[in-house]
Amino acid sequence: MKLSVIYHSVSGNTARMAQVIAEGMKSVPGIEARAFSIDAVDADFAGESRCIVVGCPTYVADTSAGLHLWMEKEMGRLGLPGKLGGAFATAQYIHGGGELVIQAILNHMLTMGMLTYSGGGSRGKPVIHLGPVAIAGAGDTEALMAFDDLFRLYGQRMAEKAAELFD
Ligand SMILES: Cc1cc2nc3c(=O)[nH]c(=O)nc-3n(C[C@H](O)[C@H](O)[C@H](O)COP(=O)(O)O)c2cc1C
Repeated sequence: MKLSVIYHSVSGNTARMAQVIAEGMKSVPGIEARAFSIDAVDADFAGESRCIVVGCPTYVADTSAGLHLWMEKEMGRLGLPGKLGGAFATAQYIHGGGELVIQAILNHMLTMGMLTYSGGGSRGKPVIHLGPVAIAGAGDTEALMAFDDLFRLYGQRMAEKAAELFD
């Protein structure tokens, strides 16, 4: 089963965490996962994906304009109704608005007929409520690494749910 992670990233943080989520997805047997920048989405692969996770940096406590525009103009071409959807964010500050970014993406997915999921408290600790947020300034790989296990686990949980729903 194919799964896609699609992201907007300017200084590399969100791109890096998208790859970590894809790694977690691939740890589940039978899952083929790829991560794409919004500028280079493989529309065939994403269209065939049963689950799409979207990620974005936090800009002024909101999605970046680039991601917002992509969701409005391009995302709807990926055959979204009935797919499993999830969202993640990166931000520089713990109260900088990362969860608002996730909520905006999930709202968009719901509006497009996707089935949104995060695992929430149902998968035990660490609890991931709306989706994971990694906190780091631009290009601060050391800070991002502290979130790798959480993001890998999130990818694994999304893939396990996709397998349960669609296999
Ligand atoms: C224009 C701009 C606005 C930003 N606004 C916020 C913000 O409101 N809250 C926050 O926590 N971080 C903010 N940041 C920091 C980025 O969200 C953060 O460093 C992110 O990980 C960068 O992602 P990227 O490397 O994938 O581009 C802002 C960065 C930029 C460039």
